[in-house]
Amino acid sequence: MIDRVKEHLEQVNAFTSKDAQAIEEFRISYAGKKGILNSLFAAFREVPADEKKAFGQELNTLKTAVTDKIKELQSQLNNKGVKAILSDPTRTPFPIQTGNRHPLAVVKNRIIDIFTQIGFTISEGPEIEDDWHNFTALNLPEYHPARDMQDTFFIQTDPDILLRTHTSSVQVRYMERNQPPIRTISPGRVFRNEAISSRAHCIFHQVEGLYIAKNVSFADLKQTLQYFTESLFGNSKIRLRPSYFPFTEPSAEVDIYWGLETETDYRITKGTGWLEIMGCGMVDPNVLENCGIDPNEYSGFAFGMGIERIAMLLYQISDIRLFFENDVRFLKQFKATL
Ligand code: PHE
Repeated sequence: MIDRVKEHLEQVNAFTSKDAQAIEEFRISYAGKKGILNSLFAAFREVPADEKKAFGQELNTLKTAVTDKIKELQSQLNNKGVKAILSDPTRTPFPIQTGNRHPLAVVKNRIIDIFTQIGFTISEGPEIEDDWHNFTALNLPEYHPARDMQDTFFIQTDPDILLRTHTSSVQVRYMERNQPPIRTISPGRVFRNEAISSRAHCIFHQVEGLYIAKNVSFADLKQTLQYFTESLFGNSKIRLRPSYFPFTEPSAEVDIYWGLETETDYRITKGTGWLEIMGCGMVDPNVLENCGIDPNEYSGFAFGMGIERIAMLLYQISDIRLFFENDVRFLKQFKATL
């Protein structure tokens, strides 16, 4: 009996191979479930008592030899693979899964690109704001009913501190630090206490724009928006509908002509063919004054849009929540160069 173990030991020590399949067969024949090692361990019971000790020791030596041998041969195999890669620099590399930008970043970058081409700078500001920059300076004093247009998250311990509800706050900061001519856009994240649905979310993104110089007129505003919508959506017709914002006078909402060809067009435009894409207006003289700019010398326009809304229109996405769930199956559909 013990001689059989010794024979196996010699065979194992002598075994060598560079072939993956042969090594695997060797492994199975010795260490597999029905392999030699297991059958020898099963035979252990029949070994006479006085031989048990010597037999057991020999069997353990064989087991270690088998494990070491398998490890050695397998690591030789792996090294060979690595060497082959290193010695051949022309070899095709391992495929690398590249990521891509989030659709909101893609759309934001496109908007930025369009405005920077006509001389707008980019400005940023804090997401945690004070009352002055988010409301009061923008002609929205305390108790002004228009504050209700934007349900606000306040910091509980200090009613003066809040999460900004729009990036108009950045424009206030910009005007406080710069004199006209001013041409700037402020992209950023904003917060509103909304019930989350397919159309509304508590956190979303905006790009707001501001242009202040001498003799800026409503015609300039309209022309700038026309240029913007044409650049982003292709040939497009827009209309300005009278509206109200406390910080602009006159104010308007901008609609883009979407068409009424399909049932979907009918549904998303509520049968009108038009879709609202942003708010805009001539900066209220009070706002200029609050920010240290002389309204008798300068005038300007402002506009603001939600990036999610624009992205939903561009990509025909029907549920805003998809932007925040970060499901890879959704995200990987947006390949873009910007
Ligand atoms: N701040 C407005 C909003 O968030 C958008 C806006 C900006 C409207 C500038 C007019 C002028 O709803």
